[in-house]
Amino acid sequence: MQTNVKKIDADSLAEATAILRSGGVVGLPTETVYGLGGNAFDDTAVQKIFAVKGRPADNPLIAHVHVGYDLSKIIDYDTPIAQKLRKAFLPGPLTLVYPSTGKVSKFVSCGLNTLAVRVPSHEGAQALLSAVDIPIVAPSANLSKHVSPTSAKHVYDDFNGKIPLILDGGESQGGIESTVCDVTGEVPVILRPGLITKEQIAEVCGDCLSYEHKAGEQVKSPGVLYKHYSPRCETALFTSVDGAKEYLDSQPQGKRIGVLADSKKIDAFEDVIRYDLGATPEEMAARLYALLRRAEEECDLLIAVEPTEKGGVMDGVLNRLRKACTSKDILH
Ligand code: TXA
Ligand code: MG
Repeated sequence: MQTNVKKIDADSLAEATAILRSGGVVGLPTETVYGLGGNAFDDTAVQKIFAVKGRPADNPLIAHVHVGYDLSKIIDYDTPIAQKLRKAFLPGPLTLVYPSTGKVSKFVSCGLNTLAVRVPSHEGAQALLSAVDIPIVAPSANLSKHVSPTSAKHVYDDFNGKIPLILDGGESQGGIESTVCDVTGEVPVILRPGLITKEQIAEVCGDCLSYEHKAGEQVKSPGVLYKHYSPRCETALFTSVDGAKEYLDSQPQGKRIGVLADSKKIDAFEDVIRYDLGATPEEMAARLYALLRRAEEECDLLIAVEPTEKGGVMDGVLNRLRKACTSKDILH
């Protein structure tokens, strides 16, 4: 199959709409990362997404809808906290987990009685979702366990020959996946941290919890358990510059070594390929995945150093960094 990459315009939107309506899969931009989209009502399309990504069959998908979509078609009932969060943050990088009507394909939620719904703010994504006017399930458009894509080129690198069309909507500005938040109860529970922060959600709803999986308990969001976002080179994550330097000094000659650290810490490293994550949490989120993808091309070993800052958007950045890189001096 030939994979075409097309800038978003009336023609490419019409082509993507036709592919989605006939059960096909397309790459599409969002403000967080690129997605691999298919019709949420169509069993075959949903199964195709799992197959093409190599995604574990128990990791549920997010349904993406346009701003005006009537949610009552796919969710069973609304809750006061969901209403507040929609008003405050949508469209935007926040996915809400609702009680499901069970009307979308049974393969979307993998046996859970909930449905994750996202209303992306990206203009191109909105244009496509309005044109098709059906919920489009879209996991991040990377091969399972690989680094998420923030450009059409990243999607092409993982799926060339496997999907017919990738809509190119420029670089994803957010850079890490949406915050996933369960709104089925009275208090919102964050299942995956992201650009809409726990602090922001708590301000709107009065309170906000973070989900932590306890051994033996049924998992609320299976994606949280998987190793994720990993570059294909060897990786080593440190909390301190000193720990990273000691490890660097112990490496044999001839190895291509990269160091990934924030703008303050990166200056401490010489004679390595330097990947500057940036100075603010937002900058770090926006750059992280593109740098991990560059590092896997350029390095045999990537040594990463955690930024010191905690809380807010940094929760999401640290979550992704820790899942991408094998930790050498911290336990989690
Ligand atoms: O920003 C994003 O959310 C991107 C773009 C493309 O929209 N999509 C994305 O999808 O990150 P994916 O499939 O890579 O991650 C979906 C996450 C997984 O952690 C999954 O376990 C969780 O959402 N999830 C999906 N449905 C759920 C449900 N019903 N209950 C709990 N967690 C759910
Ligand atoms: Mg993903």
